Amino acid sequence: MRTQVVIVGGGPSGLLLGQLLHLKGIETVILERKTRDYVLARIRAGILETGLVDMMREAGVAERMDKECFIHNGTCISYENELFAVDFHKLIGKNVVVYGQTEVTRDLYDARDAVGAKTIFEAEDVQIHDADRDAPYVTFTLDGAEQRIDCDFIAGCDGFHGISRKTIPDNVRTDYEKVFPFGWLGILSETPPVHDELIYANSSRGFALCSMRNEKLSRYYVQCELSDKVEDWSDEAFWDELKRRLPEAVADKLVTGPSIEKSIAPLRSFVSEPMRWGRLFLCGDAAHIVPPTGAKGLNTAASDVHYLKEGLVRYYKDKDSEGLDSYSEKALARIWKAERFSWSTTNMLHRFPDQSAFDLKMQRAEIESLHHNETAQTWFAQNYVGLPY
Ligand code: APR
Ligand code: PHB
Repeated sequence: MRTQVVIVGGGPSGLLLGQLLHLKGIETVILERKTRDYVLARIRAGILETGLVDMMREAGVAERMDKECFIHNGTCISYENELFAVDFHKLIGKNVVVYGQTEVTRDLYDARDAVGAKTIFEAEDVQIHDADRDAPYVTFTLDGAEQRIDCDFIAGCDGFHGISRKTIPDNVRTDYEKVFPFGWLGILSETPPVHDELIYANSSRGFALCSMRNEKLSRYYVQCELSDKVEDWSDEAFWDELKRRLPEAVADKLVTGPSIEKSIAPLRSFVSEPMRWGRLFLCGDAAHIVPPTGAKGLNTAASDVHYLKEGLVRYYKDKDSEGLDSYSEKALARIWKAERFSWSTTNMLHRFPDQSAFDLKMQRAEIESLHHNETAQTWFAQNYVGLPY
């Protein structure tokens, strides 16, 4: 088999890249380790920056999003009984779209089916060969039979646990990592959201987040110990703890109900440099991870896709490799700014085991500055809605 671009990974990065390349006449094959249903069962954040919304439109997959999404002109931050809004629209004339990542992925799969582009599910033991030469190829096993695809380029969109990043030799790669000493326990409940925008809560008992998927489906999180297990947390214990971390007026309005999904995720910042090795390009979680506080995971994947798509189109259209040669530098420049924002908001909103009384005063001063200073709010808003590509 031969194609122009092999995309390893059928998550949002791989699917969005595949769709945008198809629309430019560039052929791709996506190799996905799991089944489509498995991929679509993942519950992930759903805050879309302007850049990603624009790319969904460019990819022709915005119709359902436009019908079902929420437009949020701002977000709320609470600390103990205080609650304030950061109004993106008033400050910078922009907003964010709330639309579950699962729905983004579903729309992209449907679009890929509609154009008849090839996706191979349950592709096992994917291996990338000769990425640093002019004739790379990928091997994998399907139904027990070894397969090979020759290609011009490989896009490593296989997430943090994929094989693409590890294909780049250790002496070429530099990994930067910070593991946070806590996790997020998240639940999905068929209850109306407690507020019309998100609430990021700093409390003496730890962080909490009130989010949503639609007017009947809410998503809540509480900071928890890394040693916690989902089975340690009954629904009742979760709701009690969430209420304790919210301002009273918000807690009093909270509609509780049975969890339909409950999971614990660790928090990590991670970046691997460079994002290119020969004809292999890393994209999305394969190259970087952010703590979910800033809602940047999907959005940093989107800007990678933007830069890589531009580079590949320029190569195939004009035989000009400048976009590919500058991909890693351009993508990393934006990624590190998103890493900073995610790290900064995580530090501002969470309780750390080793925090001193002075540290807590600094954290309080930062939140109060954000509460009362328009310049601080503008900078927060610019980062939250997404810095320019
Ligand atoms: N071979 C083939 N496919 C693989 C392999 C492999 N060796 N390893 C992983 N995959 C697949 C996974 O099954 C998954 O479907 O690659 C896909 C990677 O998707 P994501 O992990 O969702 O990463 P990405 O597409 O970059 O999207 C980033 O997803 O994890 C969230 O917070 C993150 O919102 C961000 C977004
Ligand atoms: C979510 O809705 O899952 C969500 C929203 C915002 C975040 C993180 C998660 O910062």
